[in-house]
Amino acid sequence: MLDLTLVRSALEDAYDLTPSTKLAESMSDIYARMNRVVTPPDFALYAPYIAAINKLKKERGAAILAHNYMTPEIYHGISDVAGDSLQLAIKATEVEADIIVQCGVHFMAETSKILNPSKTVLMPDMDAGCSLAESITADGIAEMRAKYPGAPVVSYVNTTAEVKAASDICCTSSNAAQIVAAQESDTVIMTPDQYLAQNVAKDVPQKRVVWWEGSCIVHEQYTPQDLREFREWNPGTRIIAHPECPPDVVAEADFSGSTSGIIKYVTDELPEKAMLVTECSMASNIADALPQVDFVGPCNMCPYMKKITLEKVLYSLHTMTGQVEVDAAVAEKARLSVRRMIDLSKKLGL
Ligand code: 13P
Ligand code: SF4
Repeated sequence: MLDLTLVRSALEDAYDLTPSTKLAESMSDIYARMNRVVTPPDFALYAPYIAAINKLKKERGAAILAHNYMTPEIYHGISDVAGDSLQLAIKATEVEADIIVQCGVHFMAETSKILNPSKTVLMPDMDAGCSLAESITADGIAEMRAKYPGAPVVSYVNTTAEVKAASDICCTSSNAAQIVAAQESDTVIMTPDQYLAQNVAKDVPQKRVVWWEGSCIVHEQYTPQDLREFREWNPGTRIIAHPECPPDVVAEADFSGSTSGIIKYVTDELPEKAMLVTECSMASNIADALPQVDFVGPCNMCPYMKKITLEKVLYSLHTMTGQVEVDAAVAEKARLSVRRMIDLSKKLGL
């Protein structure tokens, strides 16, 4: 676990991180992207970190890849690329910088390292895990293969490098249905998200989809009743759910898609009121770009994603600690699964 006292004393020695209204005012272009959701006093707190990270990032020649679930000060303040899991994996293959700072969870940093073995990939907090990635090991994949001989294994990118190495191909929530449909076998094993698998099974009825019993602790909390009740007392709300939600929740929604699919849907449709049935930062990150839309309703926080903070990003870049390593033999096999997904997605125009 990161020792925050140590982190703070190292940063205090090297930077002036005193909250500054003056500095915040000089960064009004950045603040304009989040002023609906971040108060001026909070931005005065973030400004010295944002300025220090952006300067250090240039000096080190680093690129910051941020997932859509990062907080607005990370998403709008310091990221070079922001996106869903598929977009970040693709960007990781294109980025020219020698250092990648992954603002997201550990499996995302591992994916970047698998795709870029010669680059340095920094993870600001190694404890930023994922309940799905923790739910299965390579032994679990072997168990599924023994149960369904000959069936290909499609593993969600929310898995460790070992699990990716033991799988045939990866998928994300934005390409899962197409990747399952493209398999030759009638039976397809999906791991580790039981709900994503069940949602895919509905969309791809020609396949027999079997699954591992993992779940996302953020999305499994929603119930269809939550959505129904919200719609009843707040008529006209467009409800948009991530496919990691149980299928009976997705059935109550007007649209379901990956995090970037959700952003695209809201941006295209511009509903008066939208409820995003997913992680809380999603609505915060798009609120300023879409002033016509009122984001309403409850959301759930991902405790893993929220481990990434400006302070930890600065410390990681300053000390070059938190370097992600993947065993070369494991990475080679895992790369095949990730590359197959990227190549098939590009071929399918996704
Ligand atoms: P996407 O961004 O691919 O939709 O994934 C969501 C997620 O839970 C990542 O952890
Ligand atoms: Fe994992 Fe769910 Fe958090 Fe995504 S939101 S990182 S799937 S626990």
